Amino acid sequence: MAKVREVILGVGGGIAAYKSCDLLRRLQDHGYQITVVPTPASLNFVGAATWEALSHRPVTSQVWERVDEVRHISLAKRADALIIAPATADLIARIAIGRADDLLTNLVLAIDVPTLLVPAMHPQMWKDPATQENVEKLRARGFTVMEPAVGRLTGDDFGQGRFPDTQIIISEFESVTGSIKDLLGKRVLVTAGGTREAIDPVRFIGNRSSGRQGAAIARAARDRGADVKMIFANPQLSKEEINELSGIDLLQVETAKEMHTALEREFPKSDLLVMSAAVADARPLQYSEGKIKKGDLHDISLVENPDILKSIAKLRDKQIVIAFAAETNNDLDVAQAKRLAKGANILYLNNVSDGAIFGSLDTEGFILTSNGAPIPVPTTSKDTLAELLLDQALDQLG
Ligand code: CTP
Repeated sequence: MAKVREVILGVGGGIAAYKSCDLLRRLQDHGYQITVVPTPASLNFVGAATWEALSHRPVTSQVWERVDEVRHISLAKRADALIIAPATADLIARIAIGRADDLLTNLVLAIDVPTLLVPAMHPQMWKDPATQENVEKLRARGFTVMEPAVGRLTGDDFGQGRFPDTQIIISEFESVTGSIKDLLGKRVLVTAGGTREAIDPVRFIGNRSSGRQGAAIARAARDRGADVKMIFANPQLSKEEINELSGIDLLQVETAKEMHTALEREFPKSDLLVMSAAVADARPLQYSEGKIKKGDLHDISLVENPDILKSIAKLRDKQIVIAFAAETNNDLDVAQAKRLAKGANILYLNNVSDGAIFGSLDTEGFILTSNGAPIPVPTTSKDTLAELLLDQALDQLG
């Protein structure tokens, strides 16, 4: 499954440039991050200020701007896909012969990602053998070039040359890139990390959960179009890993109680809850305001934390709930009983014997659902498991 998130929107110098503003907005609605690269000519129709305001990103059209960033290369490296809309006859011709006379054409040469061109021009210009030859050349090189729509043009003329409907462009784009937005419109709530229960100002009861699995699920759901909220307890992630959570609504909590309160508020607003957080099973009966002397540490009374998932699952309306179980054996019957007891639709049983899984990039276990045999998950990345769990959830969401 292709992960397409960073998209470059190249804009050629035709009147249809104004329609690309709507294309940009709708692509954003689908969860894509867009950088706009207009040709200098297109700025006559839609100015850089409009693109910057809509994309919330800097916009340049020549290689002579922001030279320190070497933008044609840095943008090429970051992008997962390229759409050129509208592609004018001139722009198509320049790309066909490999010209590099503005930022966009430099970028086209420097980039190696799925590319969709959306031509829009006067029907005579589209039909002209020179344009048709150039289009064939581009198609032979692996670019996808859409057919312009048929209809009325800017003046009184009628024919094939119109900019297609935004939705048709987006469908074509998603089939070209293989990206799947099957969670579009769904609200996904993910808990991650490990709660900490303070003993005194310096000590706590906690666990080894890094939050990596929850982060992988949140990213995967976001990339599949969902609106994602994450309740994150004490993330143990690098700055880069935190940056990768852009577009996800992050709420940080420390204790099981804080997580519980946040879930009570957010769960009713969600369609899917993924409870991947490792909740501390117990907390100190009493918090000590002063640091406890080491000689007194042998006698800390604990009290059991409430089972958050169990109580939240009871509030469910139509939500699908995914639970996690960390066990040091692979007892499927015990895990299935745990799934039922917690009121979860799906449970991922992971084997954490010998300190495996926690903090690691890989996972191994079984997916249990209410129907069918347990699905074994041989050692795989947490990203892949995230996709597998979302596939299962989607089956049940209908
Ligand atoms: N969980 C929870 N509240 C708790 C403990 C766990 O909501 N107080 C959730 C976890 O987020 C996870 C699932 O319950 O999704 C299973 O957690 P696990 O620790 O395996 O189960 P426990 O109920 O703690 O049972 P055990 O006695 O086996 O540790």
